[in-house]
Amino acid sequence: MDSAAAAPSINPRRALIQLFSRLRTSNGQTNPLPIYTQLTAMGEVIPAPWGGNLVTSYQLCHSILRDKTWTVPDRAWRSRQSNNTRWRSPASLQMSQTLPLLNPPHHTRIRRTLGNPFDQSTLFALHRTVEKAVDHLLNDFTERLHDGAADFVTQVSEELPVITIGHWMNLPPADYALLRTLTHDQVHTQELFPTASDLALSDAATAQLRAYFREFIKERRTRPGDDPVSQWIRTWDAHEADRDAADAAVHSLALFMILAALETTSHLLANIIRLLLEHPSQMDAIRSQPELIPDAIEEVLRYDAPIHLISRVAAADTHLGEIPVPAGEMVHLLIGAAHHDPAQYTDPHVFDVRRRRGPRESGTTTATGPSTHLGFGAGIHYCLGNALARMEAATLLAGLLKRPLRLNITAPAQWAPRVAFRRMTSLHLAAP
Ligand code: HEM
Repeated sequence: MDSAAAAPSINPRRALIQLFSRLRTSNGQTNPLPIYTQLTAMGEVIPAPWGGNLVTSYQLCHSILRDKTWTVPDRAWRSRQSNNTRWRSPASLQMSQTLPLLNPPHHTRIRRTLGNPFDQSTLFALHRTVEKAVDHLLNDFTERLHDGAADFVTQVSEELPVITIGHWMNLPPADYALLRTLTHDQVHTQELFPTASDLALSDAATAQLRAYFREFIKERRTRPGDDPVSQWIRTWDAHEADRDAADAAVHSLALFMILAALETTSHLLANIIRLLLEHPSQMDAIRSQPELIPDAIEEVLRYDAPIHLISRVAAADTHLGEIPVPAGEMVHLLIGAAHHDPAQYTDPHVFDVRRRRGPRESGTTTATGPSTHLGFGAGIHYCLGNALARMEAATLLAGLLKRPLRLNITAPAQWAPRVAFRRMTSLHLAAP
C-alpha cells in the first residue's frame, strides 16, 4: 500500500498539487485510496490550483451529474478557451462532436435517434458471441499457464471488449489491434493533465481514427448490412438532407462507440479478477453462490471504477456550498473518491461483494441500493453501453468460475500514469 503524503493542512494548495502529482504516477494508480482519503479530508469542495473546483463527496457528485445547471465542456466552451491550450487541440475538438460532450438540445436529439443500442434482444444475440469468445480466450490463457505465468490483460481483458464491439459493428477482425492501440493513445486528450507529448499522441491517433471511420462509412454505404453503422446511416439520411452532415453524425457515433467501449470494459474485466484474487474469501463466496456475480460486478464498479473523474461546467453563476462558481468554470467530480465517501458507504474501503444485499445477508455493510455507484455516470449522459459491459463481465466471470482453475497473482498489477481513466497494463497470473 502507498504511504500517506505530507500533511495537507500546512498549505492546502501545495498539498493538493503534491497529491495529484502522486496520483498521476503509476505508483499512485496502484493504490489511489490513501490519496483519496486525504483529498476527502480537505473538504467536499476544494478549489483547484489549476482553476475550477474538485468535488469529493458522493452526494454532490451525484447531484451535479443530474443537475441541468451543469453542462459538459462542449465545442462552444472549448472555442472560448485560450489558444494553444489542450482544449483547442485537434483531438479535443474532435471529441467535442461526440455524444458525451454535447449539451441539450443537440445531445437530446442524437440520444433519441440512438434509442437503446443494447436492448434485451441485441444483448441476447451478442451473448452467444461473447460466450464463444470467452471460451476461446480462456482456453488460450489456460494453455499459456502451462508454461508459467501469463498476462490476463493482454491475453483476455483487452481482447474481449474489442471482439465484442467489433462483432457488433461488423468491423474487420484484422483491424482490432490497430483500434485498440489508437484508443489507448487517443484517451490522453480526455485526461486531467495531459503532457504535450500525450496530446501529440492523442492528435495523431485521432487523425488515424477519423481517416479509418471515414473510409469505413464510405464502404458501409456501398455495402449496407443490418449492423448498427448501416442502421445509423439509414437513420441520419432520413434526418439530414445534407449527406455530409449525415456522414459526420455517423462518423462521430462510430468513433465514440469504439473509444467508449474498449479501455473502460478492459479495466472492469481485469479489475474484477484482480480484486477477487486479492480477496480470496470473496472469490469463495462467488464460487459457492454464482448468483452473487452481478453483485460482485457492481461492487468492483464502486470500489474501483474504470473512470475516476468526470468534468462539468457551470451553465450560469452558481454556488458549491459557500464557494461561488462563475458561469463557464469547470468542476472536477472525483468519482473514485466519492465511491469511498464514508457518508455514503459503511466501511467504504471494504471490498464486499454482498454490499448491496444489506447488513442482514452480508453481516458487515449497510444496504445502499442496487445502483448506488457512479461508475456509469448519472443523469442525461448515463452510459449507453452499461448493459453490454455488465454482460461481458458476467460472462467472463461465469466462464472462469466453471473451470477447475485456481489462479493467483504472481506480480503486482502495473498501471498507466493517469488520473481520470484507469488503465491496468498487466496482471500476471499463474495456476500453481
Ligand atoms: C465498464 C465499462 C464502461 C464504463 C465504466 C463506462 C462509463 C461511462 C461513463 C461514466 C459515462 C458518462 C460520462 C459523463 O457523464 O461525462 C459514459 C457514457 C457513455 N458510454 Fe460508457 N462506459 C463503459 C462502457 C461502455 C460501452 C461498452 C459503450 C458502448 C459500446 C459505452 C458507450 C457510452 C456512450 C455512448 C456514452 C455517452 C452517453 C451520453 O453522453 O449520452 N460505454 N460511460
